[in-house]
Amino acid sequence: MQQARGPKAFIPDFDLHDAPMLPESLWCLVSAALVVAQSRQQLLLDRLRPSDDSLVFTVPASDNLTISVALCATGTSPRFFVTNVSSSEVDPGPSGGTDVYEIELNDGYGSFNGPFANGGVLAVSDGADVAYEVGVSENGPMHEILPEMPFFGDSSGNQAIIFSPPVASWSAEIPTYPNYTLPPANLSVPAAPSISSNFSIILSRTTSSMLTGCALKSQTSTGTVADQRLWLKDEDGWRSQWTIEGLSPSTNYTAYAVIADSKVSGPLYFRTKSASFSCPLISQLPYCPSIAYAVPLPQPSNPFTMYNASNLPLAISGPLLSSLTNFTTTLTTYACGRDDYSPLVSCNDCQREYRRWLCTVSFPRCAEDTSSSSSSDDSAQKVFSALSSQPTSAQPRNPTFPPYTETYTVLQPCIERCTAVDRACPAFLGIKCPVPRFNAASSYGVGYIDNGEDGIEGEGLTGVAQDAYGNVWCNLG
Ligand SMILES: *[C@@H]1O[C@H](CO)[C@@H](O)[C@H](O)[C@H]1NC(C)=O
Ligand SMILES: *[C@@H]1O[C@H](CO)[C@@H](O)[C@H](O)[C@H]1NC(C)=O
Ligand SMILES: *[C@@H]1O[C@H](CO)[C@@H](O)[C@H](O)[C@H]1NC(C)=O
Ligand SMILES: *[C@@H]1O[C@H](CO)[C@@H](O)[C@H](O)[C@H]1NC(C)=O
Ligand SMILES: *[C@@H]1O[C@H](CO)[C@@H](O)[C@H](O)[C@H]1NC(C)=O
Ligand SMILES: *[C@@H]1O[C@H](CO)[C@@H](O)[C@H](O)[C@H]1NC(C)=O
Ligand SMILES: *[C@@H]1O[C@H](CO)[C@@H](O)[C@H](O)[C@H]1NC(C)=O
Ligand SMILES: *[C@@H]1O[C@H](CO)[C@@H](O)[C@H](O)[C@H]1NC(C)=O
Repeated sequence: MQQARGPKAFIPDFDLHDAPMLPESLWCLVSAALVVAQSRQQLLLDRLRPSDDSLVFTVPASDNLTISVALCATGTSPRFFVTNVSSSEVDPGPSGGTDVYEIELNDGYGSFNGPFANGGVLAVSDGADVAYEVGVSENGPMHEILPEMPFFGDSSGNQAIIFSPPVASWSAEIPTYPNYTLPPANLSVPAAPSISSNFSIILSRTTSSMLTGCALKSQTSTGTVADQRLWLKDEDGWRSQWTIEGLSPSTNYTAYAVIADSKVSGPLYFRTKSASFSCPLISQLPYCPSIAYAVPLPQPSNPFTMYNASNLPLAISGPLLSSLTNFTTTLTTYACGRDDYSPLVSCNDCQREYRRWLCTVSFPRCAEDTSSSSSSDDSAQKVFSALSSQPTSAQPRNPTFPPYTETYTVLQPCIERCTAVDRACPAFLGIKCPVPRFNAASSYGVGYIDNGEDGIEGEGLTGVAQDAYGNVWCNLG
């Protein structure tokens, strides 16, 4: 690639009008150099520019600009030089000069931030054939590895639900006295924000060596994205939700989310369930927005491959919404918003936490025990998930679920789902979570997030319900 690049633009420092007559061939060379010098390409704000034959760019003027570059492949990379002296006729380069800076690259990324009062010039050194991308923005680097990970919903034998990190914030309407109206039990999906950027998921069986958006997007992703939509899973904000099909059972996958084509989140590791795993996935319930995992229900009928609000039987959603309605009725006998039962929380928080708890316990989560294969070495350190085998003779954990015809393994809800309700609700509701000393572990996962004995927040075995390596210790709903 890029064989046909012109010479590095360097304009000899003499006035052409005074120049001696040149032989025609030499004159052509000089004007060729001038053409190259003048063909500095303009970089536009917040617009990614893939590499082509251009090597010199003008940078727009701004008080605070970040120029970022990302390599799209491994190999010998070009060097990037920038100056904020806009009148500079000499392209910035390795020989330096006033206000000439080199953009250092690290793992395929580089960025430079500074004032460009009158604009500036970016020059790319020739001689390398690795494709790259440049971006300039007033809002920090366009290219970066995001600190937030994608979120693993769950997998079945051949499907997976993955969420991007939050891409748009959301603020709930907080009701106030005297019109303290809580959201209805049967919530409707809030209007999704309009976001013009692309969100992509890249799924692979191996870990990629190059974690830039353009490198990841150029590699082929396994599986097919059956559905992609913005979903408000919880108060953290809107995420892109991907439903992926066509995966292989019992296989390790690595997922990367690429946001706005240039911000990378990941790697997230997960493993698909075995071919014999029979629980279908459920998600996109507006009244239980955080639920996105496998449940012990019969396989949904055609054309559905998983459950959502349009094919979940009313015999399951009806009683759930009825008990949430009844709870809300009882809760609002309290003078919500007028008499505070806590300086920190109000009825709105109570209803939200109760909803999430009710959803989590109403939709038991299927899991698979994969610990049998672990070697004796790591089992000393390994934290086992809150799994519990459910024989077919057992009562369904949710009485509105039809009996499940096979033995399955349930992943217990995290006890913190219950303690959150206890903390957010007024005492007169009499919410009691089981105490660890008295058998709480038979119905909840205890001691993973908070310390099981004393309930000290975040001081449990893992501190979290799940991590980015495919471990899920308890069901946080
Ligand atoms: C160029 O950058 C330097 C260092 O950041 C700064 O001091 C100077 O004011 C900038 N010049 C212009 C014209 O923005
Ligand atoms: C320039 O912008 C970056 C990214 O938005 C920001 O972190 C930084 O504080 C800003 N610097 C100044 C001097 O405003
Ligand atoms: C009370 O609040 C609800 C929801 O915020 C709103 O729909 C309703 O119109 C309000 N009623 C009055 C009387 O302000
Ligand atoms: C999204 O990606 C497509 C193809 O990769 C591209 O043509 C389009 O311009 C991108 N849209 C935005 C808003 O970046
Ligand atoms: C899959 O990942 C697990 C850890 O999550 C690891 O123990 C196992 O060796 C991996 N299997 C393969 C085939 O890489
Ligand atoms: C449920 O899933 C079907 C099939 O994937 C889809 O067409 C539909 O839009 C989904 N409905 C809701 C309410 O999520
Ligand atoms: C919840 O609302 C949707 C429409 O918004 C409706 O189709 C559905 O039947 C309602 N569910 C129940 C259990 O009332
Ligand atoms: C909610 O209350 C109504 C009326 O009191 C009652 O008929 C219904 O059974 C209750 N729902 C649940 C799920 O308890």
